[in-house]
Amino acid sequence: MLIAGNWKMFKGPAETAEFCLGLRDEDLEGVDVVVCPPFVSLAVAVQLLAGTEIAVAAQSVHWEDEGAYTGEISARMLRELGVYGTIVGHSERRQYFGETDETVGKRVHAALEAGLFVIACVGETEHEREDNRTEDVLRRQLSVLEPDDNLVLAYEPVWAIGTGKTATPEIAQEAHAFVKSQVEVPVLYGGSVKPDNAAELLAQADVDGALVGGASLELDSFTAICRAAIRS
Ligand code: PGA
Repeated sequence: MLIAGNWKMFKGPAETAEFCLGLRDEDLEGVDVVVCPPFVSLAVAVQLLAGTEIAVAAQSVHWEDEGAYTGEISARMLRELGVYGTIVGHSERRQYFGETDETVGKRVHAALEAGLFVIACVGETEHEREDNRTEDVLRRQLSVLEPDDNLVLAYEPVWAIGTGKTATPEIAQEAHAFVKSQVEVPVLYGGSVKPDNAAELLAQADVDGALVGGASLELDSFTAICRAAIRS
C-alpha cells in the first residue's frame, strides 16, 4: 500500500518544515508514504525527512534536462535535490495548464529515464462518465504509458477531486481493474479520500493505495489515512 499526499499549491517552506517534523515522529511502519509539496518546499522536505522511510515527490516535471522552458523544472534538477519521484498528469494540470496525453507521456518517460518514481494520473470528468465514455477516456489517457517498475498510476475521477464526492468502492474497483487491464502497474485511488472513507476504498482488490489532496494537508487526517492503509 502506498499513500501519497498531493499538497497542490499549499504549504511554503515554513509550513512544510512544521508538517515534516510532525510526520517524522509518527510510526507508519507497514505503509509506503510519499509527500508531494510545491517545488519551493521540496528542499526542506527532503532535508527533514532524510533518514526516514518517507519519500518526497514533486507535482510535475519537464521532459528536457534543461532549456528555454520558463516556469518548468527538470527531472535532473529534482534528482540533484534528492527528490524521489513526481506526480505527472494531474487533472488540474490537464484542466488549467494545457497538459495533454502527449505531454504527459513525454514527462513520464523523461522522469522514469532520469530514475524518478512516477505517479501518473488518469480519470474521467463527470460529463464523460455520464456519457458512458469512462473506458474510452481511460484507454486514451493510458495509451501513452507503459508498465515500468518505477511507475504507479492514480485513478482520479475528476468529479471526485476536491468535491467531497467520492467514488463508491464499487466504482473505484471497476475503474481500477480496467486501468490495470491496460497498463499493469499498481493503481492508487484519488478523489476526496478522507479518514472516514479510506478503509472501504483501500479494501478493494485492485486499489493499491491512495493519492490524497485536501486530507493530506493536516497531519492528523493524513496519518489516519496511512493507518487505515496499514490495517487493510
Ligand atoms: P482531494 O484531491 O483528495 O482533495 O479530492 C485529490 C487529488 O487531487 O489528488
